[in-house]
Amino acid sequence: AAPTDHEAEDASISQGVVESNHAGFTGRGFVNYANVTGSYVEWTVTAAAAGTQTLTLRYANGTAVNRAMDVAVDGAIVANDLAFEGTGAWTTWTTKNITATLKAGANKIRATAVTANGGPNVDKLSV
Ligand code: GCU
Ligand code: CA
Repeated sequence: AAPTDHEAEDASISQGVVESNHAGFTGRGFVNYANVTGSYVEWTVTAAAAGTQTLTLRYANGTAVNRAMDVAVDGAIVANDLAFEGTGAWTTWTTKNITATLKAGANKIRATAVTANGGPNVDKLSV
């Protein structure tokens, strides 16, 4: 099936703010992670059936420094220190794919900054 978009601005946000000052986002904006370790966005994604899925995170990073994050499903890390490299500008958005097994029903998918630079700006998660 075609992926479903889950906007970051509609997710649960810890240490981040919804902004819309850098063009190219989908929905109403994106999440500007606080530039601290541990800032995160957590989406609740409902799967019709258990199985392996592609998780696509859309982001921008206007710096030259990797803004690495851990991605976890229901508290279990499925991508450790995943790199979110610089995209050249805060208005240049790109995607990062990972695969993960989801269970039937609600899954909590959390992307947590692992460096003091915080995460990149995150637009959405598509599953
Ligand atoms: C700038 C930019 C923000 C970004 C921040 C950062 O302030 O406008 O969107 O989140 O840099 O370095 O994290
Ligand atoms: Ca930020």
